[in-house]
Amino acid sequence: MSEPVRSRGGFSRREFLKGSGAAAAATAVVGAPLVAPAEEATGLIRGAEEVTLQVNGKAHRVRIEPRTTLLEVLRYQLGLTGAKPVSADGCCGGSTVLLEGKPISAATTLALDCVGKQITTVEGLGAQDNVVQAFVHQDAMQCGFCTPGFVVAVKAFLKKHPYATEEEVREGLNGNLCRCGTYVNVVRAALEVVKGGRNG
Ligand code: FES
Repeated sequence: MSEPVRSRGGFSRREFLKGSGAAAAATAVVGAPLVAPAEEATGLIRGAEEVTLQVNGKAHRVRIEPRTTLLEVLRYQLGLTGAKPVSADGCCGGSTVLLEGKPISAATTLALDCVGKQITTVEGLGAQDNVVQAFVHQDAMQCGFCTPGFVVAVKAFLKKHPYATEEEVREGLNGNLCRCGTYVNVVRAALEVVKGGRNG
C-alpha cells in the first residue's frame, strides 16, 4: 500500500478523515446526555401516538404527533372551539387557554408539552363564571371572535391582580387584540369583576 499523501501541515487526507470520524463519535457520546433529560421530561414520541391530556377536569385520550399543537387537539379532536386559530404565532391572544392556571397560547404550545398538566379552556369556565357574566353585562363583544381569549386572559390576570386598577387592566391585557375594537367594554367587564369583589 502506498504512503498517504501528506499536506503541508503534516496531515494526510486519510488521517484527517479518521480523526474527524473519531471526533464525531466523541461528540455524539458527549452530546447524548444533553438530549436525554429533555426527552425524559416531556416523553419522546416518534410519529403519531396516543397520549392523555387533562382538559377541563377530564382525561382525554388523543392522538398526536410531536409537531401537533394544543390548539389543534382542542379544536379538531375534542371539539372545543372556544380558543381560536387567529394567528399562527399566537400574537393576538385568540387561542389563550390556561395551563396549570397560567395563560398560554394554545396555537404555539405543543400538545406533547401539556401531558400531565391541567388545561382549562373557556368552555371549562362555564356560563356562570364571574368573568363570563361580566362580559355579558358589559356587552364586551361584537363579532365575538376574540372573546374566548379575552375571557381567559381576564380570568388569569384578575386571579393574579384581584384589585387591579383600570390602567393595570389595560396593561395586563395588552397581549390580546380585538379587531372590532371592543376594548372599552372589555376593560369595563374586568373592572366590574374587580369592583364586585368576585375574583375567584
Ligand atoms: S369582538 Fe370582534 S374581534 Fe373582538
